[in-house]
Amino acid sequence: MKQIIFYVFFQEFLVYFCPMQLLDGKIVSQAVKNDIKEKTCLFTRAGKKTPHLAAILVGSNGASETYVASKVKNCEEVGFKSSLIRFDENCGEAELITAIEKLNNDDDVDGILVQLPLPKHIDEEKIINLINPDKDVDGFHPMSIGKMVQGLPTFIPATPYGILLMLEHYKIETSGKHAVIIGRSNIVGRPISILLSRNTTPGNCTVTVCHSRTNNLKDICLQADIIVAALGIPEFLKADMVKDKAVVIDVGITRVADASKKSGFAIKGDVDFANVAPTCSYITPVPGGVGLMTIAALLMNTFTACENKYK
Ligand code: GUN
Repeated sequence: MKQIIFYVFFQEFLVYFCPMQLLDGKIVSQAVKNDIKEKTCLFTRAGKKTPHLAAILVGSNGASETYVASKVKNCEEVGFKSSLIRFDENCGEAELITAIEKLNNDDDVDGILVQLPLPKHIDEEKIINLINPDKDVDGFHPMSIGKMVQGLPTFIPATPYGILLMLEHYKIETSGKHAVIIGRSNIVGRPISILLSRNTTPGNCTVTVCHSRTNNLKDICLQADIIVAALGIPEFLKADMVKDKAVVIDVGITRVADASKKSGFAIKGDVDFANVAPTCSYITPVPGGVGLMTIAALLMNTFTACENKYK
């Protein structure tokens, strides 16, 4: 008991008297990947199959190309099989439907992801709803979302799942805290709002979801113990919107033209990091924060999908 009291006191001391701590996606994602690699090794040594992720990429959007390439590379790193199925920007919906049906029926494929966004002429919802929920490692299928809302075991969308893994790794207290989510997308804002409000650890937050029609956004942000910025506007969250010692999670990854970079662009988060970081208790950098956790979480879901086949 004495040890627990000391530990709690020590954590509070750290938060109040120590400078901001970086939530390092490199360290945490590597720890998660090491764990997956070890589990995969034990799994295959026991005669079970190698986890297999299939990714569908339509068109040649620069950011999507980078994300999918990184997902494939990370599969290799942890000992998974991966397949990348590419389609031309102008491909028809029917071609995509056939590809998903084929992957649904392929016993070797454990996880299927369709990189978003899809070109405008394709009905994204229709495509996602076709994925077999047992292989829905992105957690975007209505069945997965419904189960997540009810707190039932399911695939949790990779970015919110990555955020939870990060909070867990740094043992950040969330219970009873006010979490303000900026953004209500199906991929990040809405699911993280649900996950943080659940009766779990991390969780038990009082959650406010803000969006483009929110009045007094600054006043609401100033009440937040935890802010998740997921709106996709570079450096939107300024220092005067953040309470002292808040926890700041930056989900933004926007490419901004930058002639000084070899690639011609810089990656910017949704948080004005240079000015916000000095006042908060914890903050995720961009790059090197949530983005890396998203991939680690996707690998976790793929391993689970494979493992479920033996249950
Ligand atoms: N586009 C942006 N984020 C994601 C993601 O997590 N999964 C997929 N499939 N597409 C995305």
